[in-house]
Amino acid sequence: MSYVKSIAVRAPAKVNLQLGVGGRRDDGYHELASIFLTVSLFDRITLTPAEELRVTVAGAGAGDVPADGSNIAARAVGLLAERNGLHPGVHVHIDKRIPVQGGMAGGSADAAGALVGCNALWNLGVSRTELVSLAAELGSDVPFSVLGGAAFGSGRGERLTVLPVGATTHWVFATAGFGLSTPAVFAEQERRRRDAGMPWTADGIPSPRVSQRLVDALARGDTAMLADALSNDLQPVATSMRPELAATLRTGTDAGALAGVLCGSGATIGFLVADRDAARTVAEKLMASGTCAAAHVADGPVPGPEPEPEPEETITTGENA
Ligand code: C5P
Repeated sequence: MSYVKSIAVRAPAKVNLQLGVGGRRDDGYHELASIFLTVSLFDRITLTPAEELRVTVAGAGAGDVPADGSNIAARAVGLLAERNGLHPGVHVHIDKRIPVQGGMAGGSADAAGALVGCNALWNLGVSRTELVSLAAELGSDVPFSVLGGAAFGSGRGERLTVLPVGATTHWVFATAGFGLSTPAVFAEQERRRRDAGMPWTADGIPSPRVSQRLVDALARGDTAMLADALSNDLQPVATSMRPELAATLRTGTDAGALAGVLCGSGATIGFLVADRDAARTVAEKLMASGTCAAAHVADGPVPGPEPEPEPEETITTGENA
């Protein structure tokens, strides 16, 4: 009989309050001006020592998430192990709540949770700052997913500046019955720019700039001003690829949301609302309308991923114990 220590981490989704998209760089990425906010919609990642690295996935949309070494959380475990000269013998179990291919950085949250969790499981003592820079090797949104809170991201979204937040913001997230592929949405935006004879490369378009109005609204906790300042350059592209998103947007604002905005490259729509009561009303009306698959009430900012306070202790018996 032996004791196998598991670590469970809750990793939050993000919403982009601003997503300014510049031109395509030589490395294929686009210059971004992105204001991120973590919200209280979580995946739960449980990390248990095992012979080999393996992944299991449960929860909403689990069938669309790879359960092998290509899973971004598995890659995160492998990367952290490699940099610390360790064998990545961990069973990663992901319980999904964050919509898959929903533009809310679900995969990045899982990777961030795996980094934070394995750092604790292996007692590595790697600082959050070091984990943030390691995270950039995994994906553009992973550094913010490690940090949490609110931040401005430039470059491909990985160069972060922490932003002050004056008040909790309340949201309803309407998930679509389909996902949108991030590369496909960026490619469609580029095609439209080219077809319109507009510049589309990073040297032809000035780098997008942070919305100072949005930063001020966030710092003051001025929800009405914030609602007015929300923007996402990918929204017209995503709604042209999936016109049904326009109906979701209309339904949420007609139901009393202050504003609606596409999350990342879609397909989830985030609705900013005045308070929790308004959130419940908007969520109910969205669900009744049939214009979305599910509606989640959440608020933000919330802290980045942290191991849950009481690590689980599993008593294992038998041959493989
Ligand atoms: O960095 P990550 O692997 O998460 O990016 C996924 C895809 O999103 C990229 O392959 C690219 O098509 C697109 N992307 C982009 N510019 C960025 C971030 C992502 O074009 N700044």
